[in-house]
Amino acid sequence: MTDQHSAEPLRTPLCDLLGCEAPVLLAGMGGVSRWELAAAVANAGGYGMLGMVREPIDLITREVTAMRAATDRPFAVNLIPAATEPQLLEAQIACCLDLGVTAFCFFWDVMPDVVARVKNAGCLVLHQVGTEAAARMAEAAGADVIIAQGIEAGGHVHGRSPAFGLAERILAGTDLPVVVSGGIATGEGLAAALAIGASGVQCGTAFLATEESFAHSYHKSRIVEATGEDTVLTDVFVLNWPKGAAVRVIGNSVTEGLKGNYLGHDPDSLPRETIAHDDDQPRLRFSTDSPLRTTTGDLEAMALYAGQGAGNIPDVVPAAARLNAMVAQARHILKGPVRNGFTAMS
Ligand SMILES: Cc1cc2nc3c(=O)[nH]c(=O)nc-3n(C[C@H](O)[C@H](O)[C@H](O)COP(=O)(O)O)c2cc1C
Repeated sequence: MTDQHSAEPLRTPLCDLLGCEAPVLLAGMGGVSRWELAAAVANAGGYGMLGMVREPIDLITREVTAMRAATDRPFAVNLIPAATEPQLLEAQIACCLDLGVTAFCFFWDVMPDVVARVKNAGCLVLHQVGTEAAARMAEAAGADVIIAQGIEAGGHVHGRSPAFGLAERILAGTDLPVVVSGGIATGEGLAAALAIGASGVQCGTAFLATEESFAHSYHKSRIVEATGEDTVLTDVFVLNWPKGAAVRVIGNSVTEGLKGNYLGHDPDSLPRETIAHDDDQPRLRFSTDSPLRTTTGDLEAMALYAGQGAGNIPDVVPAAARLNAMVAQARHILKGPVRNGFTAMS
């Protein structure tokens, strides 16, 4: 951070484990969290993650190389084993290990073999989970950090519990650092997470709406205009993913057309219709792809991922400004008059 001491009251042991100054993690958002955003967050004192779900080897190589050129801070690569063809997943992990990547963040179903594979290579493992059972599995598999994802989260949502309740229940059963994820876009959320004993927060939507994110400006502006009530949990954006996977998006013509609910859509029953392109790659209606800088076509009908914290995101700013504002507000809250005996730094 520009002021090296500004995050000090917020420093948790997780910061030492990850090598960052403030316990704010950039979610490894597929398509969106590329090197420019991850480096901006890392250089501002947070923890950067590259969202590389299902990305080809040459893109991963380019992104890791560019990340290293832009920052000397540690970072993680986010992959989603259960939503990736085994051959591609193996190639992705091998590529990351060859490149000297030292930390991974996994999400969706816990795959113990995959965790063990990178742990055996000496890497740090963060695992995002949506249930206590998955947290226990991730810990047993060797994870070093548990990220508790709540139903408020933007993007794919694995569990159905509010983030803070889930984090508290996971904290009660583990000594690992626990990070709260879902709907957090302000210093209030960060302060609240630390107050319950969590080690930090992970933010997706709050960093999607920044200058450095690879999301299309249309997606960023829809988040700025949205309130949390404009988001819906739906399974209509399911092509490319295991059946029944729920996502939180800003309601649009697709969710409204299908009543926007969680209906158990079978990906095989949905029509294949190209509605946009990413460079020369077709993007299908009902697919999980969200609009990126490189996307052209019917952006409104794509998955406009956003968490319930969208109402707290008033503008598109540099990622450092968003992080600094969160940190400053949390510090202010935690340094304020003690009214309930809570002390910020144990
Ligand atoms: C656009 C977008 C893409 C996402 N892609 C991924 C992903 O590839 N891997 C992953 O672990 N989580 C992904 N997530 C979920 C985040 O890890 C995290 O749970 C979520 O962003 C937290 O909620 P928030 O957006 O309200 O901050 C994504 C979220 C968004 C908004």
